[in-house]
Amino acid sequence: MGRLYLGLDSSTQSLTAVLIDIDLSRIVYQQSLNFSAQLSHYRTDNGVLPDGDPAVVHAPPLMWVEALDRLLLQLQADGCAMEAIIAVAGSAQQHGSVYLNDAFDPRLKKLRPDFALHQQLSDLFSRKTTPIWMDSSTGSQCAGITAAFGGADQLNAATGSVAMERFSGAQIKKFAELEPQAYAKTAKIALVSSFMASLLAGRHVSIDYSDASGMNILDIRNRTWHPTALAVCGENLKEKLTPAIDPTVSLGEISNYFVGRYGFNPRCQILPWCGDNPSSLIGLGLVESGMTSISLGTSDTCFGVMQQLPEQMSPWANTFITPANNYMSLLCFKNGSLARERVRQQFNLSWDGFSAGIKSTPPGNRGAMMLPWFDSEIVPRIKNPGVKRFDLAEDDLAGNCRAVIEAQMMAMCHHADQAGLKPTAIRATGGGSHNRVILQIMADIFAAPVDRMETTNSAALGAALRAVKAIERVSWSEAVAGWTDVRQDSHLEPERANGAVYQQLQRTYAEREAEILNAFH
Ligand code: XUL
Repeated sequence: MGRLYLGLDSSTQSLTAVLIDIDLSRIVYQQSLNFSAQLSHYRTDNGVLPDGDPAVVHAPPLMWVEALDRLLLQLQADGCAMEAIIAVAGSAQQHGSVYLNDAFDPRLKKLRPDFALHQQLSDLFSRKTTPIWMDSSTGSQCAGITAAFGGADQLNAATGSVAMERFSGAQIKKFAELEPQAYAKTAKIALVSSFMASLLAGRHVSIDYSDASGMNILDIRNRTWHPTALAVCGENLKEKLTPAIDPTVSLGEISNYFVGRYGFNPRCQILPWCGDNPSSLIGLGLVESGMTSISLGTSDTCFGVMQQLPEQMSPWANTFITPANNYMSLLCFKNGSLARERVRQQFNLSWDGFSAGIKSTPPGNRGAMMLPWFDSEIVPRIKNPGVKRFDLAEDDLAGNCRAVIEAQMMAMCHHADQAGLKPTAIRATGGGSHNRVILQIMADIFAAPVDRMETTNSAALGAALRAVKAIERVSWSEAVAGWTDVRQDSHLEPERANGAVYQQLQRTYAEREAEILNAFH
């Protein structure tokens, strides 16, 4: 057995552990605990509390505490060498805010290992539930924050994003407005990530730079809380947040509670926790400028590394500081596999039939084009969905198959460019990435090589690798080498012959999108 590092990821639906041995260069243990199935007494559905209002999405933070206890007990019961773990780091769903009273920090310092964590922490919340990233109930607070900054562009330039309903700033403001007494009793506001890190460190731990960038409160340039945001989001907010911290600097040794209860080594180091997307960036090996990941899932996401902030921030992208101390831009397209499925089903095709349809048409689709907004869209924001076709008949099987994929890739390429991302190498993940025909169109439109990656638990793996980087004092490239390899058989180069066709089509795509947006606004 070699040197062991533990990465944890507290996502919306589950808590996952990935234990890596850096001398054997392999994952030696992985385990997940599903909140709704295994902690059913919290009465959550897919990790969230049912609510009559679909815009309100909360989760019980005590559930995450109990999950940590259960999962670590399972690691121990499964024979993991707890005393050999050198360091633990983690990641968590972004944006969720946890409200803690003034007993939180002193209580963490005197936990008793003979009792479970959740039994000793239940009275420490000044708000029993946490609004999470799926919550969209803060429209009026977003308007207030935007006005305080003098407009959406100013807010975007200062914090890396225009006002987002799911972001913690708007959520904190809503709590301060609607429950002023409970807000006043809040000594500390954590994010899910810093809350979990605090448990392991045995003291209140600040929010790290990466997750702090998902709040609309952090000044993304100088990494301090922005005074305008502090003033508009809630009274005395600065004291409740404490300064954001570097996620690559160890917080020190693990709390004695974890030594006594689960057999950790007293010298085991605890790293701050990050947001799950920044952590996945590391877990996918995206540590150099231009490296980009495109996940083709229910929704499609595109994120990549930038060395510098763009001069002009795109209103559709979220910009976060990364653990590797550069920046990432994140774009989320809601009409991902949803749109692909709708076209496939319209023509009653198998996936092979869908691919054959694409192959029977030339790149560029002879100028035929689709704007595939089957559902409302996030990038760009389209509230009233509707598919638009240009020089494309609705019953043209092959033309529609090609058009939906080309449109999706052109939208991603166009908006990535606007957000300052210049992809030099793309790593494709998710269900849709198994289709090589789709990946070739991706390579051609982005004019960049594409490789496929099998990803399971990239956020938890990213956390473990961040701990390796911090403790072993290696470079980021050294830390991720051997852990984030692409599929050998998956490499695709862009077809140079298609470059000119797609450049022209891209311009037309951008014009058509802009025309539609202008007509709405
Ligand atoms: C990112 C976001 C989600 C959550 C999911 O801005 O809201 O990806 O981080 O866990």
